[in-house]
Amino acid sequence: MAFNLKGKNLLTLKDFTKYEIEYLLSLAQDLKQKKKMGIQGNLMEGKNIALIFEKPSTRTRCAFTVACIDEGGHAEYLGKQDIQLGHKESIEDTARVLGRLFDGIQFRGFKQEHVEKLAAFSGVPVWNGLTDDYHPTQILADLLTIQEKFGQLQGKKFVYIGDGRNNMANSLMIGCSKVGMDFVLIAPKDLWTDPDLLETCNNYAKQSGSTILMSDAVEVVENADVIYTDVWCSMGEEDKAKDRIQLLKPYQVNASLMAMTKKTSTVLMHCLPAVKGNEVTEDVFETHADTIFDQAENRMHTIKAVMVATLG
Ligand code: CP
Ligand code: NVA
Repeated sequence: MAFNLKGKNLLTLKDFTKYEIEYLLSLAQDLKQKKKMGIQGNLMEGKNIALIFEKPSTRTRCAFTVACIDEGGHAEYLGKQDIQLGHKESIEDTARVLGRLFDGIQFRGFKQEHVEKLAAFSGVPVWNGLTDDYHPTQILADLLTIQEKFGQLQGKKFVYIGDGRNNMANSLMIGCSKVGMDFVLIAPKDLWTDPDLLETCNNYAKQSGSTILMSDAVEVVENADVIYTDVWCSMGEEDKAKDRIQLLKPYQVNASLMAMTKKTSTVLMHCLPAVKGNEVTEDVFETHADTIFDQAENRMHTIKAVMVATLG
């Protein structure tokens, strides 16, 4: 079933229903197949998109750029040295200028309120390419990857382990609870999800018939279909490295943690970039490299679906 998402922002997946998420995944699958068949698209012909980056990026930047060009559009990279955003010019004014010139805007930066302001003032679709709080386009790629591996999302046991209150943990809790995956967060109590977000996600889980569990005990990985980890210090938190390593060492994804699932079919996922030797050991990473790089490729197909659907 097709949904009309024209004009919609993607600021977090909270704003999308289960069915809209499933629609975006199925559109991404179609666009992926079209690309594999070598068909040049035209769904973004005549569209110009702005890519604002306050933080560095490999996957997100390249995914937006390639996806846009594949469908006949033009992408303009605006790095933090390139524009006045938030320094000599307010977010509101920058949004109003870019909204007059561009058909859509991607924002990667620090504050969630900045991407929200861009959306409120630009008048064009705004896509969150990562803030301190959320990373919704990554989740779409992750869900597509799980669907490809397991044939379904509903009822799968998804375990996130590590820094439980970062943008990835927050967004995965939202995404999994929306689509009906059983979500388990394993982290030291100091790094657990904000209670308000947990309550919101518990409501999503009730609606989708899934569950959410938070624990500081690694044993609850048992029976996991997916184990997911991310860096222990996100961009902008580099000064916390010493404390985080100390705190999170027992939560490293290594061969003994993988064995605790008591399943041989469990896959490891990682949004990348990875710090091997911290959150994951090199051997486990390499065993699951195919899945991890499928995720990276799927960033492009899912971002393409988001742009095509919201630009209309
Ligand atoms: N996963 C991800 O967002 O990667 P980049 O930081 O390279 O964009
Ligand atoms: N939590 C990480 C995700 C990188 C894609 C960060 O914000 O740096």
